[in-house]
Amino acid sequence: DYRPTPEDRFSFGLWTVGWPARDAFGDASRLPLDPVDTVHRLAELGAYGVTFHDDDLIPPGSDEAAREKAVARFRTALDETGMVVPMATTNLFTHPVFKDGAFTSNDRGVRRYALRKVMRNIDLAAELGARTYVMWGGREGTESDAAKNIPAALDRFREAVDLMCQYVVDRGYDLRFALEPKPNEPRGDILLPTVGHALAFIAQLDRPEMVGVNPEVGHEEMAGLNIVHGVGQALWAGKLFHIDLNGQNGARFDQDLVFGHGNTRGAFFLVDLLEHGGYDGPRHFDFKPLRTEGPRGVWDAAAANMRTYLILRERVRAFRADPEVQEALAAAQVPELSLPTLAPGETYADLAADAFDPDVAGARECNVERLDQLALEHLLGTR
Ligand code: GCO
Ligand code: MN
Ligand code: MN
Ligand code: MN
Repeated sequence: DYRPTPEDRFSFGLWTVGWPARDAFGDASRLPLDPVDTVHRLAELGAYGVTFHDDDLIPPGSDEAAREKAVARFRTALDETGMVVPMATTNLFTHPVFKDGAFTSNDRGVRRYALRKVMRNIDLAAELGARTYVMWGGREGTESDAAKNIPAALDRFREAVDLMCQYVVDRGYDLRFALEPKPNEPRGDILLPTVGHALAFIAQLDRPEMVGVNPEVGHEEMAGLNIVHGVGQALWAGKLFHIDLNGQNGARFDQDLVFGHGNTRGAFFLVDLLEHGGYDGPRHFDFKPLRTEGPRGVWDAAAANMRTYLILRERVRAFRADPEVQEALAAAQVPELSLPTLAPGETYADLAADAFDPDVAGARECNVERLDQLALEHLLGTR
């Protein structure tokens, strides 16, 4: 009956259901939520985890006493519900101090302030048991390329990530970083715009093993890219440390729809990949309930993310188990791709001995249409 349980490992950011729906053109249409109520509500719905930016939990400007109180209340809510904090992150985008970036601001004082803000929240993340620390560089970018030296910005970005890795090592925390790519919004262009850019950046770090990616469905699709391919390459590289599930309809503003409420075929193949590709991390939803909704719609949307994931999980399992699908997969030679191109002991010299007719192979049908329709029918529930 698609009822989520903690074993499903569904998690939500405080900022998702808690978004008061203020946008670039309009005021908030909802009241803010109390993080403590959010934890209880999410637990009742069947989630296992909650994530946060420092500022979601501790209102900016809080003094020490207010900070301690906010953390204590939150911790009590976690204890009462059994909810965990698998991930935490830093707000390096709301305050005007970050208008030209945080780690890559031209202003060195801003960069140093950003690092202090991250270190402080890493301490809290570790204290609350988080194993992943997300870095989304929302303001690390430009509108005018006259005003930013891009290689220098990447030097500073690398310096910041290297420093934060050093900090985690020195403190002895069991924490890894996950970089979250996004092509644009709020900046005109953002550094590390796609999973591919982030993977290439990680290879330049002092401790690449400590850093992976947190792909967001909508962000790859905003760049016109295939999320299944991005996540697939991250998994292949051993770098899928976390994932932000949501929905997006093509290349336009960041919609942050409920998972599956955008490119549903992409969602189907993504769940197939996550379930069968060896990802064992949280299924984290980074979505925004529609601005049209009030409190009822907010929780309807939260539940819908999990229900949709479970429906798709059931559909992909049925797809994989269907004998006709297995036959169609074989007819499309899908299993053959998992065979190495050379047999054990062979070298490239052995390739010369092949009796192979490219015209015959070129005339062979790939049988994709039947397989694709079978996938769609499983998705639509007609099989
Ligand atoms: C977005 C981003 C953000 C980040 C979050 C973590 O929609 O632009 O996904 O929501 O994930 O702020 O830092
Ligand atoms: Mn987004
Ligand atoms: Mn995100
Ligand atoms: Mn988001």
